[in-house]
Amino acid sequence: MNKIIAANWKMNPGTAAEASALAEGVLNGMTAELRKNTSVILAAPFVYLRDLAMLWERRRERHVVLAAQNMFWAEKGAYTGEISPAMLADSGIRTVIIGHSERRRYGGETDELINQKIIAAFKHKFRVILCVGEQNKDEAFEVLEQEITADLAGVGKAQLQNLMIAYEPIWAIGSGAPDTPQDSAQKMLYIRRLIAKKANAKAAFAVPVLYGGSVTEKNARDFLQEEHIDGVLVGGASLKPQSFLAIIAAGAPEALH
Ligand code: 13P
Repeated sequence: MNKIIAANWKMNPGTAAEASALAEGVLNGMTAELRKNTSVILAAPFVYLRDLAMLWERRRERHVVLAAQNMFWAEKGAYTGEISPAMLADSGIRTVIIGHSERRRYGGETDELINQKIIAAFKHKFRVILCVGEQNKDEAFEVLEQEITADLAGVGKAQLQNLMIAYEPIWAIGSGAPDTPQDSAQKMLYIRRLIAKKANAKAAFAVPVLYGGSVTEKNARDFLQEEHIDGVLVGGASLKPQSFLAIIAAGAPEALH
């Protein structure tokens, strides 16, 4: 499996022109080699997705995948300010981040709501990056068990093939102090054990597990080198094409040996 390098732009950049420039900077730096040997995802704010999807069309970009950072569970109706799965699909988006800790924290999202969103996303055939992770270092394993069990309640085995899980310890996000690759690999193994309990070992090993939290071009290789880390979810360092491209390059097989 290629290593997955995903960008979460969060509430950045400030204008559509900057968003297009950032995306083009990344696409322009994607060599044939990188395209072949890495899987790249860009999660942009809702308002830019349509423009970006048009840019993708114009450039016939098929490799780098555009993603949303959130979506709602209902099909349509009286849900002011929300975006439905069908609206995203109509904009050409088929991948979505759900349950990011910043949505849990600032948007008050509960595991119950996140579970509803995941079920709706799978119903509409989206690929989902579910984010989980603890606030206090010594509660990691309990929090992972509690979140993954609740967030994936009612999700069938067959749907797991559209799931990725991002382990993002909250204390490491934006702090400049990431988890160690070795410790995060332990959490990845634990996540796989939880999925295996829910489905089976084969399914557990097929679900890509990513690390997120202060990944930079300096440390990306250390994470991506770990056998049990299938990729990284990058916030701050994904906002400059050169640093994000360096992280992508760190996931190519020749960089890992
Ligand atoms: P940083 O890379 O800025 O720490 O953010 C990580 C993150 O939250 C990605 O979803």
